[in-house]
Amino acid sequence: LSTTEVDISKIQPGQGIKAVWRKQPVFIRNLLPAEIAAANKVDVGSLRDPQSLADRTKPGKANWLITLGVCTHLGCVPLGIGEGENRGEYGGYFCPCHGSAYDTAGRIRKGPAPKNLVVPEYSFTSPTVVQIG
Ligand code: FES
Repeated sequence: LSTTEVDISKIQPGQGIKAVWRKQPVFIRNLLPAEIAAANKVDVGSLRDPQSLADRTKPGKANWLITLGVCTHLGCVPLGIGEGENRGEYGGYFCPCHGSAYDTAGRIRKGPAPKNLVVPEYSFTSPTVVQIG
C-alpha cells in the first residue's frame, strides 16, 4: 500500500493545502479556533452522518482536519481548500456539481451527498509531517 508524506509546517491557521494520495486529492486544513468551536457546537445526533470533530481528528490535534477531497455524492472535487474559494454556507467545503455543503469538520450538512468527506488513514510522523495511508 502506498503512503504519502506531507510537510504541514507552513500551513497557517485558517489555511489548507491539497495533497495527492493514491491519485486522489486529500485536503489538509489547519482549522481556526472559531472553526473548531463551530464544529463542536453542532448536535451530532442531528447530522445525516453523525460524527463529532473528535471522531474525525487525532487526540490533541483537533485543528488538523484531513479528508479526501472527493464529494461523497458523485465524486467531484469540492471547493474550499484553495485561498478564497467558496466554502459554502457551513464554512467547510462546497461541491459545485450539485450543491453539497460540508461543515468545518468536513461533515455533510446540505445537498445530495450521503456521507461526510472520508477521513483517510494517517498519522503524524513528527509535529510537522503527516503520513497519509
Ligand atoms: Fe458533489 Fe454531486 S458530486 S454534489
